[in-house]
Amino acid sequence: MDTPSYRKVSRYERPIALFNRPLIKNEILHMKAITREQYGSPDLLQLKDINKPVAGDQELLVRVHAATVNRTDCAILRAQPPVMRLVTGLLKPRIPVTGTDFAGTVDAVGAAVTGFKAGDKVFGFDDNGLASHAEYLVISEKKAVMTMPENCSFEAAAASMEGAHYAFNFINKISLDNSHRVLINGASGAIGSAALQLAKYFGATVTAVCNSKNMERIRSLGADRVIDYEKEDFTADHEQYHFVFDTVGKSSFGRCKKLLLPGGVYMSSELGWMAQNLFYALFTPIFGGKKVIFPVPVNIRASLEFIRSRIEEGRFKALIDRSYLLEEAATAFRYVETGQKTGNVILQIAHPE
Ligand SMILES: NC(=O)c1ccc[n+]([C@@H]2O[C@H](COP(=O)([O-])OP(=O)(O)OC[C@H]3O[C@@H](n4cnc5c(N)ncnc54)[C@H](OP(=O)(O)O)[C@@H]3O)[C@@H](O)[C@H]2O)c1
Repeated sequence: MDTPSYRKVSRYERPIALFNRPLIKNEILHMKAITREQYGSPDLLQLKDINKPVAGDQELLVRVHAATVNRTDCAILRAQPPVMRLVTGLLKPRIPVTGTDFAGTVDAVGAAVTGFKAGDKVFGFDDNGLASHAEYLVISEKKAVMTMPENCSFEAAAASMEGAHYAFNFINKISLDNSHRVLINGASGAIGSAALQLAKYFGATVTAVCNSKNMERIRSLGADRVIDYEKEDFTADHEQYHFVFDTVGKSSFGRCKKLLLPGGVYMSSELGWMAQNLFYALFTPIFGGKKVIFPVPVNIRASLEFIRSRIEEGRFKALIDRSYLLEEAATAFRYVETGQKTGNVILQIAHPE
């Protein structure tokens, strides 16, 4: 076997000849992945055969079994809002392969990896992109990757990260307990369905807003009361709440203020018209009384650890809408972009044996 020479190239472009270990007979060196070369619509997505990545010293090579197509993927696909180009690539996507989360099995580990071994079932998320819409990916063991809960399928694990991370970042900005009443708008979304389960975990009484077709599913996740947004304007509700979470960003602080008890808090997953939620988050705390908190999502690892424990206890179950095959990724993106998914959309990655 020839000793390969080394020149620095991106891990997504590393040619086969540069593998720094002997080739194993019949080893698969290529893989299928969903790629695009520029920002834009799902029409740009292509299923391609590309080189399988190689784990660096501190990295895991993961055989991906399931991922989701989520709203973060859609935002990265179109670079919307444009400011995200500072992270995802100024002129074109820094990572050509789409996907931000995964559940799969460790295929190989780098020489310096201490926390994982081949065969471990793992799940992970990175909101800046992970190239997970592919048969294999590599991820540093220092990133937000951990072993999957044992009582969980690959699909359920994949669906338990993106929305749940953002939902946890609503709840970890406040101190929630069983004396609180919470209203969650968009309870049928990925963030909303997770926020509902987490708010119930902390003992709060939850009023959930969704449309008629989802009312039973949302009740089954623990909602104490459900408002059908097709029949009722939740902002005209007669009850008052300690917290209002608009997890789909369809309302405003102005419209929801009367729903809040004195000292109550409004949070939205969107910046709102003219980025008003940032402005309110800066100024409403100064005046006391009802205020806005903008739930900037941080510390994915902490979110995953928290969610993993809840899954293990049977206190969290991701809401899954439907599944697509890897080659149907563009259709999955188009569906998620409608803003009408119920919970999470799975991308299943089959591996020819
Ligand atoms: N701040 C951040 O860092 C961040 C990160 C990720 C996502 N986001 C944003 O957060 C929002 C939610 O994300 P997600 O993944 O949870 O969304 P999602 O899963 O796509 O939400 C879809 C759900 O929203 C419901 N919905 C649509 N219009 C509604 C309305 N007017 N009132 C109540 N519910 C409505 C839909 O219900 P029906 O089908 O029954 O109508 C559907 O079940 C998105 O706007 C996304 O861009 C923000």
